[in-house]
Amino acid sequence: MTSPSFAWWQTGVIYQIYPRSFYDANGDGIGDLQGIIDRLDYLVTLGVDAIWISPIYPSPMADFGYDVADYCDIHPIFGDLATFDCLLAEAHHRGIRVILDFVPNHTSDRHPWFQESRASRDSARRDWYIWRDAKPDGSAPNNWVSMFGGPAWTWDEATGQYYLHLFLKEQPDLNWRNPAVQSAMLEVLRFWLDRGVDGFRMDVVGFIMKDEQMRDNPYLPGADLQSLDRWAQQEHRHDIDQPEAHDMIRTFRQLIDSYPDRVVIGEIWAEPRSRWADYYGQDLSELNLPFNFALMSQPWQASAIRASVAELEASIPPGAWPNYVLGSHDKPRLASRFGPQAVRLAAMLLLTLRGTPTLYNGEELGMANGDVPPDRMQDPQGLNIGPDKSRDPYRTPFQWSAAPYAGFSRVEPWLPVADGHEAVNAEAQNQDSRSVLNLYRQLIALRRRTPALNGGSYTPILTELEHSFVYLREAEGQRYLVALNFSGEAQTIGASDLGETGQVLLTTNLESPHDVTLAAINLGANEGVIIMI
Ligand code: NOJ
Repeated sequence: MTSPSFAWWQTGVIYQIYPRSFYDANGDGIGDLQGIIDRLDYLVTLGVDAIWISPIYPSPMADFGYDVADYCDIHPIFGDLATFDCLLAEAHHRGIRVILDFVPNHTSDRHPWFQESRASRDSARRDWYIWRDAKPDGSAPNNWVSMFGGPAWTWDEATGQYYLHLFLKEQPDLNWRNPAVQSAMLEVLRFWLDRGVDGFRMDVVGFIMKDEQMRDNPYLPGADLQSLDRWAQQEHRHDIDQPEAHDMIRTFRQLIDSYPDRVVIGEIWAEPRSRWADYYGQDLSELNLPFNFALMSQPWQASAIRASVAELEASIPPGAWPNYVLGSHDKPRLASRFGPQAVRLAAMLLLTLRGTPTLYNGEELGMANGDVPPDRMQDPQGLNIGPDKSRDPYRTPFQWSAAPYAGFSRVEPWLPVADGHEAVNAEAQNQDSRSVLNLYRQLIALRRRTPALNGGSYTPILTELEHSFVYLREAEGQRYLVALNFSGEAQTIGASDLGETGQVLLTTNLESPHDVTLAAINLGANEGVIIMI
């Protein structure tokens, strides 16, 4: 039971689908919208409330869809608008909401807007992108760099100016200071809202406005200036997180709020981190959920995770709703980042903290990074900066079964299937009552029916413990204790202040419910428990 005073995006679980790798229904080696429709019933058994689908628009795929060539259509490899409408209807019919990825910072260089913009200096759309003259010595207008390596400026021979791109040169940045760009992009949002989508995840939305004077960024003290990761050398003072981005986000929010029951989420990598909470906005007028990635950069230790949660709880404005992301198509799989022993504990952590959890497809099976050989590397980040920066290993096909190509496709998929899919796959885990998949299902179901877990207060306790992270979740007279042991050694926790006995409802090993003496709660290595007290 969820409390009626909360919105669905507060109490619900969001599931990220990377559509190229989810399920290939038409047998071309690439996942598609029909594939998502075919697997909606699986998502019902998982119990998620919403899916966020990474970009599905027409795109030359220089950055696998994050280079959009038409914001109001579907790439033929994924389907068409009719398939999309069908997906929306089928998802809604099952009580699953659909969140689209909106990519406002940049388009593809093949977008007709950019084609027109680059055609001549007098083009009506010249000012839709960010064009600047060279410095007198012919060099780029400032020292900004691309997140994907190299300079952020590309020289356009034909018109004799540089254009800006904070990502690939095939991803020119839109000029959001131009009101015509603003109206065109608001139209895009309306197009999808009118079709019935439930909200947006806005890609690098804090990047959309740049310093008006285009000043150089300072270099960080001690930066490794030889590294190909030039983004990491600078303090991003002038290229991202400008105050005007907040004004624009407020405008997005007003539009989205004019439709009932929608959500707006933003991908926020604010630098410094203290600027992250600003994206909730004055009087909570900006993003409903600025994605909180803080846990992804923490070491897998109780004290670090506890401190990160404390920092989040302290930094969000009154009334703002927290959220947690542990994995995505941009970061190594949990099983590879922290080790397979961490997978179950991570599930319990993500699904018992106060705030909306976002779960990346495949994490519910404990999928590990795939091994993508150099000759099959596709990610531009890996190709430009170095193989260790490639995100391909986190985007390998979803492991549906032990069949060839993991049951993802009938043909060789666009990225190789990760090793170990014979054991780690949805079909096998469906049959194993103690599998990671069944742990996720039980955690999500318990969270859904328990107001204390989906909307209750959060109080850390026993904060002096080095190896275990322990907290209370409380609502409507219910009290739950969550105890997570991050170490490879068994731990005994004493919580006799809270009473004599409690009932263990769920453990990461999926033991049957049983009573426990609160003075001595025994946790196995890497074990977590949820106790009703
Ligand atoms: C963030 C997305 O998550 C990532 O995959 C993409 O490459 C960049 N934004 C650029 O759009």
